[in-house]
Amino acid sequence: MIIAVDGPAASGKGTIARALARHYALPHLDTGLLYRAVAASVLRAQGDPASEADAVAACEFDDALLNDPWLRTDEVGKLASVVSAHPLVRAALLERQRSFARQPGGAVLDGRDIGTVIAPDADVKLFVKATPTIRAQRRHLELRKNGATISLDKVLADIRARDERDAHRSEAPMRQAADAVVLDTSFLSIDAAIQRAIALVEERS
Ligand code: C5P
Repeated sequence: MIIAVDGPAASGKGTIARALARHYALPHLDTGLLYRAVAASVLRAQGDPASEADAVAACEFDDALLNDPWLRTDEVGKLASVVSAHPLVRAALLERQRSFARQPGGAVLDGRDIGTVIAPDADVKLFVKATPTIRAQRRHLELRKNGATISLDKVLADIRARDERDAHRSEAPMRQAADAVVLDTSFLSIDAAIQRAIALVEERS
């Protein structure tokens, strides 16, 4: 069984994908982490994330980088959205994601284009969303917990800018696949969202 989980930043898609993988004992790939690794490698090489050539060169990153907590920061997330808009970067990461999806027994993948590009034949496609304000509040709380002093308005502006870039790039923009089911987590607790996701998978598989 292949489960595709797409959606914008801080929608809850990562938490839901991890929970589904645990529930169904499937391997899980957080595809955002691959784009974050490319962005981090560009920064390390003192390159320019807006340059396609620099970003493509960074696609040959060392897998050990995927475990670096730095990748989870907002700084790297923002630049991941810049490098991910380059068509050659998406092409360089395509096969790795497709072969993960094709492994025997299935897999759970989360990202922006799993249901549309990486695994268009996935058995179940979820599009996880929440209002920008609620996503900003979640992200703000998380950042404050980690000691950051950023304002809620700034977090909301960053989220809107990232949504805009991810939804309007020419290659594999973030969008709901025609056969995806929407899971709006705006007013759901984490547990309720996970239970709803499992119920949707049960209905569809
Ligand atoms: O999901 P996460 O916030 O880690 O993703 C970081 C960035 O990577 C996103 O803003 C998006 O630009 C890019 N991304 C993508 N396609 C995916 C996963 C992530 O373009 N499948």
